[in-house]
Amino acid sequence: MITAITQERAQYSLQSALQRELKNKTAKVGVIGLGYVGLPTACHYASMGYKVTGFDVSVTKVESLMCGINYINDVDNDELTELINKKRFTATTDMKQLGEMHVLLICVPTPVNKLKEPDISYVRDVGKIVAEHVNEGTMVILESTTYPGTTEEYICTPLTERGYVIGENLFVAYSPERIDPGNKRFNLSNTPKIVGGMTEICTDLACKFIGATAQRVNGIRVAELSKIFENTFRWINMALVNEMTVLCNELEIDIWETINAASSKPYGFMKFTPGIGVGGHCIPVDPYYLLYKAKEHGHRTKMIELAGDINDGMVHYSYTRILELLAANDKLMKHSHVVVLGATYKSDIGDLRESPVVRLLEILQNKVQNLTVIEPYATEIQINELILPVEKYDADILQNADLVVIGTPHNCFDWKSVHDNASLIFDSKNVMEENGLLSDKVAKL
Ligand SMILES: NC(=O)c1ccc[n+]([C@@H]2O[C@H](COP(=O)([O-])OP(=O)(O)OC[C@H]3O[C@@H](n4cnc5c(N)ncnc54)[C@H](O)[C@@H]3O)[C@@H](O)[C@H]2O)c1
Repeated sequence: MITAITQERAQYSLQSALQRELKNKTAKVGVIGLGYVGLPTACHYASMGYKVTGFDVSVTKVESLMCGINYINDVDNDELTELINKKRFTATTDMKQLGEMHVLLICVPTPVNKLKEPDISYVRDVGKIVAEHVNEGTMVILESTTYPGTTEEYICTPLTERGYVIGENLFVAYSPERIDPGNKRFNLSNTPKIVGGMTEICTDLACKFIGATAQRVNGIRVAELSKIFENTFRWINMALVNEMTVLCNELEIDIWETINAASSKPYGFMKFTPGIGVGGHCIPVDPYYLLYKAKEHGHRTKMIELAGDINDGMVHYSYTRILELLAANDKLMKHSHVVVLGATYKSDIGDLRESPVVRLLEILQNKVQNLTVIEPYATEIQINELILPVEKYDADILQNADLVVIGTPHNCFDWKSVHDNASLIFDSKNVMEENGLLSDKVAKL
């Protein structure tokens, strides 16, 4: 009885100590993984008044951050420098310092391998390292996108193996990150953030830390699944609009006008637009985490598989359209100079991961006589062993091309100049029409 009361007191005092640190913003916050999610997250909490330490395995990233140079468009270099000067943010590769933190946020990658199976090794490795260094009373929040059960298996298990009791002397929650790189309207301060803890106390503490945007859910698995569900929803709807695009081409109906017509419905329809494929670190990856989990339970997620076939097929479909377009203009692909405008996975950001335009470049570079890529957000593009150089926008390059392919329509491109200087355009995103520049030399996706 006395032991139970003592334990309860100990738990209460750890919990209230953390609550106090959170209330006074004196809690030391550690962010593990300083990439597209981790770095803006670290800056967000540092700007809120916390003292934040960023942990990364990349020496280059840590060194450049400490010089005030970041690699993420959404983070401003001046703000970063100010946070460093005010000693609100520092970065390190020294994992021993994890033990000094009151709150740990894990933002490491969760990619898939070539077979599209989850590569959970980053989360697993961090789970072990955290368990090795962490101290009583710390709150650990996993933010990486992953399948339900990951937090329990890879974060809680190593901690309990070291004798911690989750919800008593250590607090664990899952809170997926909804960062949308390049989105000027929604950011960490105004996007609701789902929070599910291992216990009620864990959820309470995590919500207190996250603040006004926290959206409490019942159970950690709901929180884990909700993020994958959001992205699977997008994956499947993108497949639907891509399938409609291929069909519309057969039926000689304009897909873009069809989408605009359907979008006039003020309820029950959500606008998605087609493209060369689906890219990035999230949408083409996360559904496969769910597919893997479903398979483990003997269940087939047929819509995810089908959406994968359709979305992945768009690269080849685009290639075929390019081939046909050149042929219709009496040009042979093997003798053509093709210029591709924009190659990152979405507009106005520098992230090339899983970009369908890069997959299209991989096909084109073997087939055309001359391939030029104009990509203002990258210095080079790696395709397997090959490094493709990247050019700056120059009207002369367009004038000498047989075909200009609009891959990723960055806002910095001058569409009038593109239109006036190109002789033939394959527009995968309908920017020409949207900018009032539709003419005989423009072919839509
Ligand atoms: N990029 C996005 O737009 C986005 C949006 C929402 C959620 N997510 C999810 O957030 C997670 C992180 O994605 P990201 O895009 O920031 O990845 P990223 O590759 O940009 O960054 C991950 C960072 O983690 C570091 N890292 C790897 N192993 C580590 C270790 N053991 N210890 C410390 N650091 C380590 C890497 O060096 C890298 O800097 C993923 O699960 C992703 O699905 C990403």
